[in-house]
Amino acid sequence: RIVVLDFGSQYSHLICRRIREFSVYAELVPYDITLGELEGRNPKGIILSGGPSSVYSADAPVPAAGIFDLGLPVLGICYGHQVIVDRFGGRVKRANREYGSSLLTVDDDGSLLGGIGRSVRVWMSHGDEAEQIPPGFQIIGHTSNARAAAIAGTDRPVYGIQFHPEVVHTQKGTEILKNFVLKICGARQDWTMEAFVDRAVGEISGIQGRVLCGVSGGIDSTVAALLIHRAIGDRLHGVFIDNGLLRQDEGDEIEAIFRDNFHVNFTAVSAAERFLEGLRGVADPEAKRKAVGEEFVRVFSEFAERNGPFSWLAQGTLYPDVIESGVSKGPAAVIKSHHNVGGLPDWLDLKVLEPLRDLYKDEVREIARILGVPDRIVRRHPFPGPGLAVRIIGEVTPAKLRVARTASRIVEDVLLEAGVYDDVWQAYAAVGDDRAVGVVGDERRYGSIVMVRVVNSVDAMTADWTRLSHETLERISNRITNEIEDVTWVTYTISSKPPATIEPQ
Ligand code: XMP
Repeated sequence: RIVVLDFGSQYSHLICRRIREFSVYAELVPYDITLGELEGRNPKGIILSGGPSSVYSADAPVPAAGIFDLGLPVLGICYGHQVIVDRFGGRVKRANREYGSSLLTVDDDGSLLGGIGRSVRVWMSHGDEAEQIPPGFQIIGHTSNARAAAIAGTDRPVYGIQFHPEVVHTQKGTEILKNFVLKICGARQDWTMEAFVDRAVGEISGIQGRVLCGVSGGIDSTVAALLIHRAIGDRLHGVFIDNGLLRQDEGDEIEAIFRDNFHVNFTAVSAAERFLEGLRGVADPEAKRKAVGEEFVRVFSEFAERNGPFSWLAQGTLYPDVIESGVSKGPAAVIKSHHNVGGLPDWLDLKVLEPLRDLYKDEVREIARILGVPDRIVRRHPFPGPGLAVRIIGEVTPAKLRVARTASRIVEDVLLEAGVYDDVWQAYAAVGDDRAVGVVGDERRYGSIVMVRVVNSVDAMTADWTRLSHETLERISNRITNEIEDVTWVTYTISSKPPATIEPQ
């Protein structure tokens, strides 16, 4: 495996993902991991990520002294490059901020930059640069701005590059990472999802007691439940809570998959009335989220109490969520235990089982295919926990729910027909209390305004509205006004995030 020390770059996860794409396990650890912990992971090589700091500032983050004495290859990227320059006695200085594409000229194609040609476009994002390289290092690549854009130790396997090989804008970035990981470190390409499934099933089958898994219809909880089911069969109980705020047919579909396709011990709890009661008169967005969240905990706890005892609560937590809350334990540890999870009461005394905690989303998708999860679930857009409650502006009423649900289904259907569903992040229709006059036949009608929102995004942190074709927009509008009697106007939201968010509430 390769260990990536995280100095806080927005691209740190991307380094791991790129390496995993060529079947080598890579994990992200905090930059201040101790030497003992690092050695315990038995890495084949170490990568120092980029980060926002300056090595010459007083509180600059530095890795444990001694990581360069382990005899392992080390690659520093951006800030990591500067850490190496500084550590071995070179000099880093403030430079003109450089952001974007530069042309890298390869001066030595012997090792790290082998096989990528004489010059490639690389992605730069830095404010400091190596002014003087340390003794014992040579320059292996330069740009017009950075004389020492890539350096290599002459008698030790230590490399530094100022640019980011992990981003797609760097040509041959994957080749550079492969040169380091495969040729220089000699890491094995044994990280496959088939192997992961076998290993996870083996580990989970060793646990004692019964496991409760809340499934939402989303891919993460579905895959988590099916993986555990493969390991312990009927000792898994899947529970799906129908809160009345779901997409059209979602509850029936998920029940059919779990019960009929996979023969999982499965209960669908119909709790729509309770949730809608809790939402009555509530118009504030945060208050709605709170009402739905609290009701969920109540319904879930009641179910657990009545159908227990359970020893474990399974969750579909993914790697990026884990790393934000601390150090990952690596692929050998799919089991983490602590109490009071997700707001559930202590008396339930559940330990947490998170079989996907080492995986990225695209890896979960691959496992879904291996396990035979229907394509519809694998492709389905993400959906917020509070469901249609956050796609309805103002109070949630049965009438507005009907409009939001039916219109959203139409939006999805039209995008599927047009072949663009898989290209967008989310697509739905929202509704509020605003009305507009329309004419139907000879009659004037004062009907609802529906807001269609379709966005592109990579990670939901930022999003851009999708430039749908006019024909597709027209089809969406026609179908909504024809098929939903109350609706007279259809609008398309063209706000990006920021300043807007993806959901309107
Ligand atoms: P926003 O609206 O903040 O949404 O741009 C970003 C992403 O998160 C989803 N979302 C939620 N998911 N519970 C969830 O599980 C929530 O309360 C929630 N609010 C927003 C949203 O659908 C989008 O993908």
